[in-house]
Amino acid sequence: MILPIYLYGHPVLRKVSPDITPDFPGLHDLVENMKATMYASDGIGIAAPQVGVNARIVYIDASVLADTFPELADRKYVLINPRIEVLEDGEKVSREEGCLSLPGIHEPVSRVEKIRINYVDEQFKPHEEVVSGYLARVMQHECDHLDAVLFIDHLSPIRKQLIRNKLNNIIKGKVNCDYRTKGYKSK
Ligand code: NI
Repeated sequence: MILPIYLYGHPVLRKVSPDITPDFPGLHDLVENMKATMYASDGIGIAAPQVGVNARIVYIDASVLADTFPELADRKYVLINPRIEVLEDGEKVSREEGCLSLPGIHEPVSRVEKIRINYVDEQFKPHEEVVSGYLARVMQHECDHLDAVLFIDHLSPIRKQLIRNKLNNIIKGKVNCDYRTKGYKSK
């Protein structure tokens, strides 16, 4: 089922999401709905708060970027209770990001290139992986959502000032995108 994407301004995006346990009600359906919703909105990743659920669940399918980054073919992840650790002395790279919860906003964000991620999959089997490059960026962006952080929080005050009108429009529900959304003020 395709769910509406909760937009910037909605309090669900600003709550830290707790870890979940295997008895989390409706986990499989939620993951399937997150996938359907992400594909319907042409996203690369989606975090549960973006469909209105405060739980540490992320889905990523980076394979659409395989033309540019061949190593990303078949890179699909259900990340449950993920934890990210920065590796080495944390070289940072700046690249443009966007977010389904912030339609129409694309800004360069500086992030570390290499991370170690620990998570469990849908069967609660633990995994640990070292990831670098674009996928590491997507993982950081999505895991930020679980900690109530949005990519615009990483911008300088000046950049943030420059997009203030766009942000205010999103809060007011004035968005122009071709997927279903739910703003703070919409019913
Ligand atoms: Ni996002």
